[in-house]
Amino acid sequence: MAHFLWFLFLLLSSATACDRCVHQSKASFVTSVAALTSGSCGYGSFAIGLNGGNLAAGVSSLYKGGAGCGACYQIRCKDPKFCTSTGANVTLVDHNYDNRTDFVLGFFALLDMAHDGMARDIYKLGIVDIEYKRIPCVYEDQNLSVRVEESSQRPYYLQIKPLYQGGQTEIVGIDVAEVGSSNWSSMSRNYGAVWDTNRVPTGALQFRFVVTSGYDGKWIWAKSVLPADWKPGEIYDSGVQITEIAQESCYPCDYGNW
Ligand SMILES: *[C@@H]1O[C@H](CO)[C@@H](O)[C@H](O)[C@H]1NC(C)=O
Ligand SMILES: *[C@@H]1O[C@H](CO)[C@@H](O)[C@H](O)[C@H]1NC(C)=O
Ligand SMILES: *[C@@H]1O[C@H](CO)[C@@H](O)[C@H](O)[C@H]1NC(C)=O
Ligand SMILES: *[C@@H]1O[C@H](CO)[C@@H](O)[C@H](O)[C@H]1NC(C)=O
Repeated sequence: MAHFLWFLFLLLSSATACDRCVHQSKASFVTSVAALTSGSCGYGSFAIGLNGGNLAAGVSSLYKGGAGCGACYQIRCKDPKFCTSTGANVTLVDHNYDNRTDFVLGFFALLDMAHDGMARDIYKLGIVDIEYKRIPCVYEDQNLSVRVEESSQRPYYLQIKPLYQGGQTEIVGIDVAEVGSSNWSSMSRNYGAVWDTNRVPTGALQFRFVVTSGYDGKWIWAKSVLPADWKPGEIYDSGVQITEIAQESCYPCDYGNW
């Protein structure tokens, strides 16, 4: 009996394990670039360089209280008259509070999604049917980096924002310690992609990032990131890349490329 249940479990888990579940939904559009770069994630003008400026706001279930910031999606609209079959690859940078659509897409994403010359027609529709799937974010020439935010005050308060978060994952925890020490202090998400702590270790600092991977979590250890004289406004290379892929559950799994 036990063997049978184990077999059943394997069968079920292999049927539902999927890193490219296709979701049916709707999207609307916004033409102002500023509307998204000033978004809830806190990326600011840095966002313009993400995915060629293809930016999106996601509903609460995608924004995930900020954990969804920086996630990449491939989105295509379902009317072949107006839209290409490959759609647009976008990065989530904002929280969409209007639950009539899962996404609000920026203008560059709209251009990528449309056949030549048809972006205006799609825009006029207001809300369109889409399908989308999560895809890995790829930053070939960039390691995960840590931006020290302006409100930081050495040595009392440290506020950081991880940049160039690759893979198909979420950062769900960050710990900081002095390089070489095992006295870790945990940071909290302040808002969007921004984390902070007022228990700042002294000296040069190392970080541990907890990311979702497979069906659970994984530590990514960046052994030396901030120098002892870290400065607000600076971006520091972590020396590591995040390439983890977290699984969703769905059936059937989409094995094709769009
Ligand atoms: C979009 O992402 C998909 C899946 O990762 C990839 O196959 C495709 O080449 C990307 N398209 C563009 C224009 O980058
Ligand atoms: C959308 O939001 C409105 C107002 O917040 C709420 O009344 C409604 O139930 C929500 N609809 C869905 C489908 O979640
Ligand atoms: C550990 O680090 C915290 C915060 O930096 C500090 O307050 C505490 O004294 C340290 N504990 C030890 C045992 O070094
Ligand atoms: C990424 O980190 C590695 C060390 O782990 C380093 O050799 C490499 O130069 C870094 N890449 C960039 C683009 O900074």
